[in-house]
Amino acid sequence: MTYQPLHLKYRPQSFAELVGQRAIATTLTNAITSQRIAPAYLFTGPRGTGKTSSARIFAKSLNCQHGDFPTPTPCGLCNSCTSISKGLSLDVVEIDAASNSGVENIRQIIDRTHIIPVNSRYKVFVLDEVHSLSSQGFQALLKTLEEPPKNVVFILCTTEIHKVPATIISRCQRFDFKRIGVEDMIQHLNQIVNEELIDITPQALRLVAQISSGCLRDSQCLLDQLSLLNITIDQNWVWEMVGNVPEYELLTMVERIAENDSNSIITIIRNLLEWGKEPLIIMQNLTSFYRDMLIAKTSPSSKEMVMLTEDTWQQLCQIAKDWETTTILAGQQHLRQCEVQVKLSTQPQLWLEVAILGLLPAANSTNSSQFIPIAENPPWTNWKTPADAIAWGQQKLPNMSLESLQEHWNSLIPVNGKKAPIWVETVQQLASFR
Ligand SMILES: Nc1ncnc2c1ncn2[C@@H]1O[C@H](COP(=O)(O)OP(=O)(O)OP(=O)(O)O)[C@@H](O)[C@H]1O
Ligand SMILES: [Mg+2]
Ligand SMILES: [Zn+2]
Repeated sequence: MTYQPLHLKYRPQSFAELVGQRAIATTLTNAITSQRIAPAYLFTGPRGTGKTSSARIFAKSLNCQHGDFPTPTPCGLCNSCTSISKGLSLDVVEIDAASNSGVENIRQIIDRTHIIPVNSRYKVFVLDEVHSLSSQGFQALLKTLEEPPKNVVFILCTTEIHKVPATIISRCQRFDFKRIGVEDMIQHLNQIVNEELIDITPQALRLVAQISSGCLRDSQCLLDQLSLLNITIDQNWVWEMVGNVPEYELLTMVERIAENDSNSIITIIRNLLEWGKEPLIIMQNLTSFYRDMLIAKTSPSSKEMVMLTEDTWQQLCQIAKDWETTTILAGQQHLRQCEVQVKLSTQPQLWLEVAILGLLPAANSTNSSQFIPIAENPPWTNWKTPADAIAWGQQKLPNMSLESLQEHWNSLIPVNGKKAPIWVETVQQLASFR
């Protein structure tokens, strides 16, 4: 049998199978049973939440040949249903507006609306990514939406409703697709796991759902990838697959930061790098963890605002109690500022360490009194060449070799066209941990 990706294999075939969009499924089902079909629908919402799937189900519902009327439970077997599923129907046309955005494309579509359906009740035009249409394209569409030929239905799909003109929106029945809730997603993934005999722990499955941030397609793709491992999939494998730093490592890091334990931090960072985590990913993961900690601190009841597992969230809420809000904020800001250095530097690893060590209380309180007040008396006023800067660095870091100082200097990315201020900051930070 040929391999079919899970997200295609498990595309919902009826509104009953649509996950996590109950209000939409009910309304569309009622519209079909009561035969109150609007000429234009607008499906909007985040990616991978069921817009295109719903458009196809709706088209099948309208045209299923199993009975004499439209039905909310299309048979999936008749000519009409199968040809729509395969994208071969002459009466149900799916157009990717992103690659057909011009006015002439829309004119062609409008011409086709006048052709009587071949062997269906309705001609259905699904305009995917409709926000990509040119303004003339929208103009051309507008007239048709206002007075569409009989038995023509438009379904416009978009992830970016703000790019769709209000004149278009107001002529459509609008449906807002929501992110799929974690519990709904887990239930759905569980069915797939049982059917496909995938060996995964309940905790790992929950993690897959949480990582996917409400996008069902992403969760299915991740599960698909994991299933190729052919072993019992646990949480560590999930973290491994997505390339992110495991939450428990981030928790430990934050704890060690609070304890001022620079040795442990360096060990954690080196281990993560050894496992193949990218410096930039480590940096970004820690930055968003600080953001989560800020939420844990300021509104511990808002778990839904973060994408953490329940256990981690509980622990983070405990840890956050001992942190000052200002410290968390300053830390997050510091990490953001350092991100560009990690991103662009030829020595991202060094920068990662400098940035994370800069979060330690030692770097911000006791030792900061030894820092040269840069604004008043910048040490670089007398520097003429990079060698002067490096010589200054050597005074501060007598144990570091000239080559490695030179290397650090070379790896600096100028900020506002200058290297000196960022050099001073780096050297001071390194010096405070020697
Ligand atoms: N609500 C849902 N119920 C069941 N499966 C879903 C749902 N949403 C997405 N899926 C799964 O994800 C796949 C992609 O869904 P679909 O194409 O409908 O998403 P979309 O909202 O159109 O996304 P995009 O904005 O990226 O086009 C489907 O084949 C299906 O497997
Ligand atoms: Mg789509
Ligand atoms: Zn059918």
